[in-house]
Amino acid sequence: MSDSLVTIRQLTKNYTRGKQTVEVLHGIDLEIPRGDFVALMGPSGSGKTTLLNLIGGLDTPSGGSVSVDGKRIDQFKGGELAKWRAEHVGFVFQFYNLLPVLSALKNVELPLLLTKMGGAERAKRAQVALTLVGLADRGSHKPSELSGGQEQRVAIARALVTDPTLLVCDEPTGDLDRKTADEILGLLQVLNREHGKTIIMVTHDPKAAEFASRTVHLDKGQLVDDAPAH
Ligand SMILES: Nc1ncnc2c1ncn2[C@@H]1O[C@H](COP(=O)(O)OP(=O)(O)O)[C@@H](O)[C@H]1O
Ligand SMILES: [Mg+2]
Repeated sequence: MSDSLVTIRQLTKNYTRGKQTVEVLHGIDLEIPRGDFVALMGPSGSGKTTLLNLIGGLDTPSGGSVSVDGKRIDQFKGGELAKWRAEHVGFVFQFYNLLPVLSALKNVELPLLLTKMGGAERAKRAQVALTLVGLADRGSHKPSELSGGQEQRVAIARALVTDPTLLVCDEPTGDLDRKTADEILGLLQVLNREHGKTIIMVTHDPKAAEFASRTVHLDKGQLVDDAPAH
């Protein structure tokens, strides 16, 4: 068996609006090895978020298969997908999606509330994750008391706190200036290279893609040949 962490076969996704059905992914085949850092690029509306959400189990396909770590996540029933997602996937979004009333530490603890872990252990794990992203001393700050780059670091800590199999990031630097974006991308690179995290990152910034080890291009719901290495 190959060491492919994610295997996608003939993946399709349709959206239905009223009487109209539109196919937005047209038979995607993709393999992502364990330990890879993939940048997923393509024009706006090409289906990047749709594909990422299918890999992360936030949505279910219309056809084809998605296997992650040997499990057919497209075949999960009922609450199985949500449970799998909580254990195996960390999500990072463009606008951080932190809860404004909670401290950084409490935001990072959130995914652990879905586990049976006790409060003291949760706080300890959250502190370890905050330390990993360089914010050990900001745990008591509310999101409004942090810069955009710091907020995204908190979001990355939250994504990591369950020690997920896969980190999926949708335009993680889309709202940040160049310097801050490069710091966040450097952090993702460290998580990939030194902590072995498999990362799939949607971006339309070619500079961001340079931090990844591989770039996959999507156009109008289809993968186009990988660009040559730069
Ligand atoms: N929930 C939805 N309902 C209907 N159409 C959608 C929905 N989500 C995305 N789409 C459509 O699917 C296409 C791909 O969207 P998306 O995956 O968000 O692209 P990208 O992330 O590359 O900009 C777009 O045409 C978009 O309008
Ligand atoms: Mg998108």
